[in-house]
Amino acid sequence: MKILTVVGARPQFVKAAAVSRILRETHTEVLVHTGQHYDERMSEVFFRELGIPEPDYNLEVGSAGHSVQTGEMLIRMEPIFEKEKPDWVLVYGDTNSTLAGALVASKLHIPVAHVEAGLRSFNREMPEEINRVLTDHVSQLLFCPAQKAVENLKLEGVTSGVHVVGDVMYDAVLRHSDEAEKKSSILTLLDLKPKQYLLATVHRASNVDDTAKLLNILETFSMLGETVVFPVHPRTRKAIQIAGFKPGENIKLIEPVGYLDMLWLEKNARMILTDSGGVQKEAYWFGTPCVTLRDETEWVETVESGWNVVAGTERERILKAVQKKLLPAAHSNLFGAGDASQKIVRLLESKAG
Ligand code: UD1
Ligand code: UDP
Repeated sequence: MKILTVVGARPQFVKAAAVSRILRETHTEVLVHTGQHYDERMSEVFFRELGIPEPDYNLEVGSAGHSVQTGEMLIRMEPIFEKEKPDWVLVYGDTNSTLAGALVASKLHIPVAHVEAGLRSFNREMPEEINRVLTDHVSQLLFCPAQKAVENLKLEGVTSGVHVVGDVMYDAVLRHSDEAEKKSSILTLLDLKPKQYLLATVHRASNVDDTAKLLNILETFSMLGETVVFPVHPRTRKAIQIAGFKPGENIKLIEPVGYLDMLWLEKNARMILTDSGGVQKEAYWFGTPCVTLRDETEWVETVESGWNVVAGTERERILKAVQKKLLPAAHSNLFGAGDASQKIVRLLESKAG
């Protein structure tokens, strides 16, 4: 079986690493990196730490508005798909790279398999929501992390090829947690004590591109009275510079960290504040309480089980959520048992023509 995998953004490197490892034991994988993320700390570090093979193709699309970025991906991908003639095109998550890969494949009548299918925020102003919906509707195999995603798909009339496999990010967490503990020196470097700091990430377009909203979030962090470690996404770094924000003394603004350092920071944080999708789930797997800086989440199971609070971006609500003692239900495997990658590869095999 020949699989062509499309990746491009940070969370996709983590997800694809888990599946790729199993896939390559018996099959051929052609890896296409769109170049959506390209900074060393947004791309290369993940290939190195997660042992992802060099991409066979790097489209070097880089940053641009949605249309130009997605359009360039379409133009550059088509001849590669035509040449490689894979049995499946495998796409992950909900970025512009996901949609571009799915669209090119479906136009060329190559079956599409979507990992992390069926997630919905029900907010169509999010670029990711458009990418998810469209990708799901052109996919032949839809790999859902949990049952809720199956129900979301059913509401849109998508029932064929839908499978609950669990979450591949959990596979990655299980595989790399011990290594993170052994190799990461981030706590020492930043002079942090376990459970005596908060970890924050903010990169969602709706939080960053609106300067007033971003400033409100950052000023709220300054008021928390606890150390806040904040690895800053490049999109956010640029916005912070433009806004001229001066962080409070309790805030440690740092460059994006590698995957192993991130896992170790997440595990040892007292609490995580984030608008990231992947980080909400990782918080859950580490049993670290999470405050989500958005008005809704796709990962509703983490909220229902009491491990995550959707606080939005208003100051009072964030401050209240950080003070609140979460009383979570017992910790169960909401997103599978860490064997999602195995299940995905077996299903691809069983459906290959
Ligand atoms: C993208 C995804 C988002 C995902 C996130 C993961 C879309 C629409 N959004 O958002 O779903 O959660 O990746 O991190 O696909 N930049 C750099 N260096 C880089 C990459 C980006 O400086 O290596 C800067 C550029 O100024 C760029 C901006 O960040 O314009 C935004 O990058 P982009 O890939 O368009 O969106 P993300 O916010 O990263
Ligand atoms: N991550 C990382 N370093 C950072 C921030 C995030 O390694 O400085 C990892 C994080 O642990 C998770 C993934 O990147 O595995 C999530 O990516 P991101 O938050 O950019 O995207 P999202 O999940 O929101 O699409």
